[in-house]
Amino acid sequence: MTNKPAPTDVPIHELIAGRWSPRAYSSEPVSREQLRAVLEAARWAPSSYNMQPWRFVVFDRSTDEVAFKKAFNTLVPFNQAWNANAPVLICVTTHTLTSKGDVNRCAPYDAGAAAMSLVLQAHALGLAAHQMSGFDVNAFRKAFSVPDDVEVIAMISLAHYGDIDKLDPVLREREKSARVRLPLGDVAYAGAWNKAF
Ligand SMILES: Cc1cc2nc3c(=O)[nH]c(=O)nc-3n(C[C@H](O)[C@H](O)[C@H](O)COP(=O)(O)O)c2cc1C
Repeated sequence: MTNKPAPTDVPIHELIAGRWSPRAYSSEPVSREQLRAVLEAARWAPSSYNMQPWRFVVFDRSTDEVAFKKAFNTLVPFNQAWNANAPVLICVTTHTLTSKGDVNRCAPYDAGAAAMSLVLQAHALGLAAHQMSGFDVNAFRKAFSVPDDVEVIAMISLAHYGDIDKLDPVLREREKSARVRLPLGDVAYAGAWNKAF
């Protein structure tokens, strides 16, 4: 299953409607070129004062299996199960301080924007990308000696689409289930707090 476009209320760009979070992966490696492209997309994200606080730690099973395994082992068991074939994990982190040592309150926002560019570029390349908060951040920090002023935010797995029939039945159903969102009026207000747009 490679396609699960959002049933949007009004038409939006195919790239945005078409991106989703698949779990059926093949073990085929992601090419160096594809990896460069998704990271390049992230690099060109906007950020507050153009500080570019994001840092991505890339784990490519085909080039460094030891590091990949170390990162993989920090995933919660649920995420380990459906990522068993994943060839690439990318950890999204961000510097939390400016060069002057002040708190950069936009740092996680900027890193999220860069991560979204990354997953959209992956989708444009026909790859599956799935973001995860389900991993042990402290174990990751320890395993990779992440500095104290860097926030570890999310993990993204990247793969070629696989066969959904190889997923366990519960996940197979989830893979096919409708994509849902809150109604627009719940998330967009018109000139006043809580006044539905
Ligand atoms: C920051 C973040 C963390 C997430 N963590 C997990 C996770 O740990 N495991 C998982 O299976 N999906 C995870 N997801 C995927 C969400 O469940 C998914 O984006 C949401 O259900 C909407 O589905 P869609 O991306 O297909 O539109 C995460 C997504 C984001 C953005």
